Amino acid sequence: MGADSVRRPPAPKGPFGARWFGGTPRATRGRHGIVRPLLPHVLLAKAAIPGHDAELLCYRHDRDFTYRVDGVELMTSRVHASEEMLAELTLTRPAARPATRVLVGGLGMGFTLARTLDLVPQDARVDVAELVPEVVEWNRELLGHCAGHPLRDERVCVVVGDVGEVMGQGRDLYDAILLDVDNGPEGLSRPANDALYGDRGLVRARNALRAGGALAVWSSVEDAPFAKRMRGVGFAVQEHTVRARGHKGPRRTIWVGSKLPPRAPVG
Ligand SMILES: C[S@@+](CC[C@H](N)C(=O)[O-])C[C@H]1O[C@@H](n2cnc3c(N)ncnc32)[C@H](O)[C@@H]1O
Repeated sequence: MGADSVRRPPAPKGPFGARWFGGTPRATRGRHGIVRPLLPHVLLAKAAIPGHDAELLCYRHDRDFTYRVDGVELMTSRVHASEEMLAELTLTRPAARPATRVLVGGLGMGFTLARTLDLVPQDARVDVAELVPEVVEWNRELLGHCAGHPLRDERVCVVVGDVGEVMGQGRDLYDAILLDVDNGPEGLSRPANDALYGDRGLVRARNALRAGGALAVWSSVEDAPFAKRMRGVGFAVQEHTVRARGHKGPRRTIWVGSKLPPRAPVG
C-alpha cells in the first residue's frame, strides 16, 4: 500500500475540470516535440469510511488508479511490488508450512491478495477483510483487472468489516495474517485502526494465529517501537526493507512476526 505519500495543499482545477495533484497544470513535450497537457487525475468514485469523518476517494490518472484519504495517498495501482512482498516474505519464510488459511486485511486494489493466491495450495481458504464496502465493488468492476481479478478465485472469502474484529473471532484460526490497512502502524484510514498496533491488538492477532503462524505488517516508515511491541507479545520478528518498485523507489518496511510458543512458567 501506500505510495509516495505527501501531504499537499488543495490543488487547482486542471484544464478538464478535474483536480490535479501536482500544483499548477503543466504541459509535457512528447517524443516528436508535440506539446500535450498532462493528463488530469479524475475523481471516479468516493465512499464513506466507517469510523472516520474523511472519505476514501478513488482517482484515475491515465491507466492508473489512486486511493486518497484526507489529502494523503493511501495507494496507487502504479506501484505495488511491496504489497506483493508482504505475502511473499510471509508465506515463503524458511519456517513456513503450506498455509491453508490466511487472513488479508484490507483489500485495497487486490495486489497482496493476488500474490497470496499464487502462494497457497488449491484447497486453501483466504479471508479478505475490507472495511469499506465500495472498495469490494470497485475491485469487482472498476479496477479489478489491475491485480488480475483475485476476487473471482473460489478460495477467497470476502468479509466486509474491520480486520481487528475478524481477528477477534477465535483462536488458532490462521497460518498467516497480512495487514496493510494504513500507511504504517498508525491509523491513517481511520483513527480506530491505532488499536490494531498496540499491545492488545497484537495479542489478538497472535491468538488468532495457529502455532508457527505469522503476522506481517506493511509500513511506509521504520518504527522501532512497533517491532519491539511485536517482540514483547511473543513474536520472533524479522524486519525487511523493500523497495516500492522492486529494485528502486522509496523504501518500505515489512515486519514478519512468527508466533513463538508460550513461555514455560519459571521455577
Ligand atoms: C492500502 S490499502 C491495501 C492495499 C492492498 N495491500 C493491496 O495490495 O492492494 C488499505 C485498505 O485497507 C482498508 N482498511 C482500512 N482499515 C481497515 C480495517 N480496520 N479493516 C479492514 N480493512 C481496512 C482500506 O479501506 C483500504 O482498502
